[in-house]
Amino acid sequence: MKITGKSGLSFDSYYSPPADKSISHRSVFFSSLSSNAVKIRNFLFSEDCLSTVKAFQALGVNIDLIDERSLEVSGVGLKGLKAPLGELYLGNSGTTARLITGLLSAQSFETVLIGDNSLSRRPMARVIQPLRLMGADIRGEDNDNLLPVRIKGGKLKGVEYELPVASAQVKSALLIAGMYAKGKTIIHEPFKSRDHTERMLKAFEADIKIEGLKTEISFVKQITAQDMFIPGDISSAAFFIALCLLSSDSRLVIKNVGLNPTRLGFIDVLKRMGGEIEVVCKVKEEESEIYEPYGDIIVTSSTLNGINVKKEEIPRMIDELPILFLIASLAKGETYIEGVSELRLKETDRINSMLVNLKNMGAEMEVDIDNIKIRGIKRFKSASLCAFSDHRTAMVSIIAALVSKGDFSIDNLDCIKISYPDFLLDVQKILGDI
Ligand code: S3P
Repeated sequence: MKITGKSGLSFDSYYSPPADKSISHRSVFFSSLSSNAVKIRNFLFSEDCLSTVKAFQALGVNIDLIDERSLEVSGVGLKGLKAPLGELYLGNSGTTARLITGLLSAQSFETVLIGDNSLSRRPMARVIQPLRLMGADIRGEDNDNLLPVRIKGGKLKGVEYELPVASAQVKSALLIAGMYAKGKTIIHEPFKSRDHTERMLKAFEADIKIEGLKTEISFVKQITAQDMFIPGDISSAAFFIALCLLSSDSRLVIKNVGLNPTRLGFIDVLKRMGGEIEVVCKVKEEESEIYEPYGDIIVTSSTLNGINVKKEEIPRMIDELPILFLIASLAKGETYIEGVSELRLKETDRINSMLVNLKNMGAEMEVDIDNIKIRGIKRFKSASLCAFSDHRTAMVSIIAALVSKGDFSIDNLDCIKISYPDFLLDVQKILGDI
């Protein structure tokens, strides 16, 4: 794709971001395991979430499309899943792979998980090791770290486990396994990661307790899902928050976006940089069927300054780091971000993908093992950018071109459909081109 950046964009727009990806995955997991049928409104029909839908269909759950934004899931109960006919293909979806490993460890049948090239390179040992402590029988390639992973389901026992890295995917896999395990499963996190699993399980009446960084779940006989609405994804809205902040005289009202505090690190950091951002909570957590607060975010173009970001802030903004690197490259002064090495383990090595693309555009940045220093420049120069088959790298590249002056080419944007199939349409809507 070719983009000629005009710089100095100006707009005043309303926008509803696509549904939250993390919550969409969990909505299918937990409604499938419930003993009733539920409707999921505003489900994210992106490739990643469809990997979860297809996996549960292969495990014997009836999931029907009601319309282009809603699903009906006829839950089979915690013990109602059936052995799939063949290997379970999970596409590009790390969330599906990690969470389903926890679930399948406790079933009465054997499964083999496979994925695309990117997923086949992503570490699974982080879930396999603690699940083995619970008694799971799991084998993977490359010293039990990579897909294909073979899981022989069986009886599990609760453990107390300290997560070496703050990962919501690992925490969720263990909580799901913990619902089937004898006794209590207690998980300690180094820093708070997103807590959508805990909120949804609480809403569906599982026996779960959260005390700061400690989460405890006990054996669960049944969960009861209810009809739910999935709020918009702050990680998808993040691209347009950046576009608005970096444009001139612009305003963007983002409607019905999830305001879960474990996902708002990006907003906190941008406000510290001088970003004019107002957050208006419209539905409080206790008013939502899944304990997820949501509302509107109003963004106004701003002059931004470099700041320091501490490693404990990272889990609350892990997926927004690539777009933050772009923003920091155009802010005044220096930004120093600690604790970014987890980015190397995403759909692609996002430290490398950002370094290659931003440096190509003239950005000044230095990386050591776990930290990144970015010195702000005035504007980017024309460049050829690479999506690295990674949806977030692709979308950052488009925003970079739009806020610049010059000619940009970006390869292969097909990967955007992993999380945000309508991204280019929303660019046009927000800029007033259609
Ligand atoms: C996710 C957790 C995060 C995030 C990913 C979605 C989730 O991964 O990067 O996009 O839905 O639980 P980690 O748990 O590996 O940090």
